[in-house]
Amino acid sequence: MGLSEIVDNDVLCNDIIILVHTINLKRQAIKQFRVLLVLVLWGMIWSAFAANAVDVDADAAKVLARQNGCVKCHSVEKEKDGPAYKKVAEKYRGKANAEERLITHVTTGEKAKFPDGHEEEHKVIKTKDLPEIKNLIGWILAQ
Ligand code: HEC
Repeated sequence: MGLSEIVDNDVLCNDIIILVHTINLKRQAIKQFRVLLVLVLWGMIWSAFAANAVDVDADAAKVLARQNGCVKCHSVEKEKDGPAYKKVAEKYRGKANAEERLITHVTTGEKAKFPDGHEEEHKVIKTKDLPEIKNLIGWILAQ
């Protein structure tokens, strides 16, 4: 083996080492990218939940409930003629159509059964402002 071949071999070895390093680095980069992707996704899911929780304006909901006389028949904790909002929230927890169902309930005057057994049309909320109604329903469901 001449001197020039040894040098060439060395150069070749170096090239292979660099190549293997590069491949390893790429693999690591892909792994790190995956981890990052998962973290970002979790972050997005978490912030969506957090935003949902913050979205309810409790004060506005209470004002609307008072203005519409809901408080005559409902309270958060106690059963009156209507069920306590805590009970309502419990009943609908985990149900996908809860919001939709309750919007219908407070906007259409469907039959409501009272504790003494008689039925009458449920109070229809006065406002037509959907975000305002959704906020009230969101607040009830958060009790
Ligand atoms: C005159 C009394 C009365 C008033 C006023 C009243 N409710 Fe009710 N509400 C009831 C009764 C009674 C029920 C039970 C209905 C049933 O189970 O059939 C009820 C049920 C509900 C429920 C639960 C529905 C369900 O599917 O479980 C919600 C939510 C609700 N009312 C919200 C409101 C809101 C919001 C207002 C004000 C806009 C309001 N109510 C005003 C008597 C009243």
